[in-house]
Amino acid sequence: MGVMTINGRRVAFTDEKNVLSVIRKAGINIPTLCYLSEMSTFGACRLCMVEDERGKMFASCSEVPRDGMTIYTNTVRLQKYRKMIIQLLLGSHDRDCTTCAQSGDCRLQDLAHKMNITSVPYHDTRDVHTIDTSSPSIVRNMNKCILCGDCVRACSELQGLGVLEFTRRGADALVSTAFDRPIAQTSCVNCGQCRVYCPTGAITIHSNVDEVWEAIGDPTVRVVAEIAPAVRVA
Ligand code: FES
Repeated sequence: MGVMTINGRRVAFTDEKNVLSVIRKAGINIPTLCYLSEMSTFGACRLCMVEDERGKMFASCSEVPRDGMTIYTNTVRLQKYRKMIIQLLLGSHDRDCTTCAQSGDCRLQDLAHKMNITSVPYHDTRDVHTIDTSSPSIVRNMNKCILCGDCVRACSELQGLGVLEFTRRGADALVSTAFDRPIAQTSCVNCGQCRVYCPTGAITIHSNVDEVWEAIGDPTVRVVAEIAPAVRVA
């Protein structure tokens, strides 16, 4: 319990688990790509950074609120860094937005529009990954993955499956399956939760999912096609 000052306004908090929750409770909008209140905190995207009165920046999702804290959520410096983060993500991301299945429903695209980003001053030096279409339900295109870890946590923490996991390190880091197997050769149950939480087009629903599952004759297609989108929590 305590009171903190956000953008010059005093805001009381009780048992909020992090500064980001207090900011949102105060009705202040702050962009995030990796924070999911119903799952563990990952702190990867750094978009939720705030600045304290000494100019120290920190990720608000990973900081416990303290009585007497003073923070700013939208300084010129923060705006500059957030823009740079989105440009860096776009720089290592397939930019075929106009033909992407998630176009218009992509949080990365949405943030780029909101920040008025019209160019990306970085070259893409990543490997090109093969698109995994082996699953009857989802398509995995790691060329559009931003390593937010949302799918990894949804698969392990919500579904208890752990089909998706991080692999490799540093600039080569990737979300993949055990032994890099195609998704159809894993214990994936086609629940669609990874798609529900993926903020980009890295995981999409198979365009012909209904026909595929009709051919297979398995009614669980409903889970992916109808139930999954409704499960998404902000
Ligand atoms: Fe805090 Fe991504 S939301 S680091």
